[in-house]
Amino acid sequence: MDHERFIEDQIAEIKGAVGGAKAINALSGGVDSSVVTILGHRALGDQLKTVFVDNALMREGEPQRVVTMFRDMGIPVELVDARDEFLAALAGLTDPEEKREAITDTFYSKVFGRLIAESEAKFLLHGTILTDIEETVAGIKRQHNILAQVGIDPAEAYGYRVLEPLKALRKDDVREVAAVLGLGGDIAQRIPFPGPALAARIVGEVTPERLAIVRAATAIVEEELSNSGVFQYMAVLLNDRATGIRENKREFGQIIVVRCVDSVDARTATTVALPWDTLKRLCERITGINGVNRCLYDLTPKPPAAIEYV
Ligand code: XMP
Repeated sequence: MDHERFIEDQIAEIKGAVGGAKAINALSGGVDSSVVTILGHRALGDQLKTVFVDNALMREGEPQRVVTMFRDMGIPVELVDARDEFLAALAGLTDPEEKREAITDTFYSKVFGRLIAESEAKFLLHGTILTDIEETVAGIKRQHNILAQVGIDPAEAYGYRVLEPLKALRKDDVREVAAVLGLGGDIAQRIPFPGPALAARIVGEVTPERLAIVRAATAIVEEELSNSGVFQYMAVLLNDRATGIRENKREFGQIIVVRCVDSVDARTATTVALPWDTLKRLCERITGINGVNRCLYDLTPKPPAAIEYV
């Protein structure tokens, strides 16, 4: 594939489709939405509004990091603080599917739908890739009907259009396009991170306190394993407690699981035999988080386990 040519073609196509109208897109910091943001801005400049929705479920410092990175590339990104809305939608939920549904619904029907309506945009740029379409067709993923998800009825709101510049590409091509567009390795080669973000790594209810624990543990795991070259690694907060001893007092504390897997396409995965010293360091640092007194290493391949816990 000729990536330079692909970039030129997509910029011309976006320009031609949008004309003098306004467009909007949501940036998550993942490679797909990052590439769409750059293509869109090269094609449309000020006609494109890019938003980053802070859903309270991001990793440490992520919203500011992503917004600053794009600002430094000359691309303004509006940071939308929707943390309270997402936390309210998640309060009291413990069922994995209900949690995922609450996040999707809050993002599309509420927050992003409202932003689109306010922006007067007639075009949505979306980072759908070929695998998303294939998985939708195969019934693995929920329908990728973005307009319906944001609450727009195409028949009623004639003139709204979704543009999907990456819909013919697979992930490896998107990564190469990202590199050609000048995106650094921290975006182009980022390890997979799920849409529901840290909520996929909290078994049970998602609360600000529980998010703070899994966020701190995630930062430690990512720091320790970032040079490992492994496919994916994470920290998970269990919905259980265990007895421990801290400052000579018994403590009924939180349990964090470390997971580190190798995989080609995430359909199957094998557990990585991390060196004992690395595991010990992870355990020491993670049990230093306030309230956490146990750290476990997950030995399970996929299948039978999934990679994420929720
Ligand atoms: P599982 O947990 O199903 O995950 O073994 C397979 C791969 O997909 C990622 N994952 C997601 N990615 N939205 C995403 O964009 C999601 O809802 C989601 N759930 C899982 C997971 O991190 C792994 O790489």
